[in-house]
Amino acid sequence: MQEIYPEILSADMVAFASPIYYFTLSAQLQAVIHRTYAIDIPKNVKKVALIMSSGSKFVYGAAITEYFQSIVEYWGVENAGIFTANGRQNKSKKKRLELYRFGKSL
Ligand SMILES: Cc1cc2nc3c(=O)[nH]c(=O)nc-3n(C[C@H](O)[C@H](O)[C@H](O)COP(=O)(O)O)c2cc1C
Repeated sequence: MQEIYPEILSADMVAFASPIYYFTLSAQLQAVIHRTYAIDIPKNVKKVALIMSSGSKFVYGAAITEYFQSIVEYWGVENAGIFTANGRQNKSKKKRLELYRFGKSL
């Protein structure tokens, strides 16, 4: 976190990225999100995106989108969008190109 705090504090945009583990974000990403509480709301961040991968396509319901939206609203930032890939898409060139375009659009 000592390396991540200065990055988040100076960033104007944050992209969270995580595989889905047991129907939610990985414990590693959640630990980072939780520990940003120690630096309060990052003042320079204007927008936040979320990138996820999973085995199943049925894991991107309200539990994930509402959790992400809650962080967006708590931070008072723009929701820059959610990008997901599942199953075979995880290694497909087409999906990788979509992710590249998503990243460029942010
Ligand atoms: C501990 C663990 C839990 C997982 N839980 C889920 C899950 O609940 N739902 C799901 O769709 N995929 C789950 N996965 C699959 C990962 O999301 C997937 O492996 C990851 O997105 C990378 O994709 P790949 O295996 O195609 O490279 C889990 C994987 C692991 C290792």
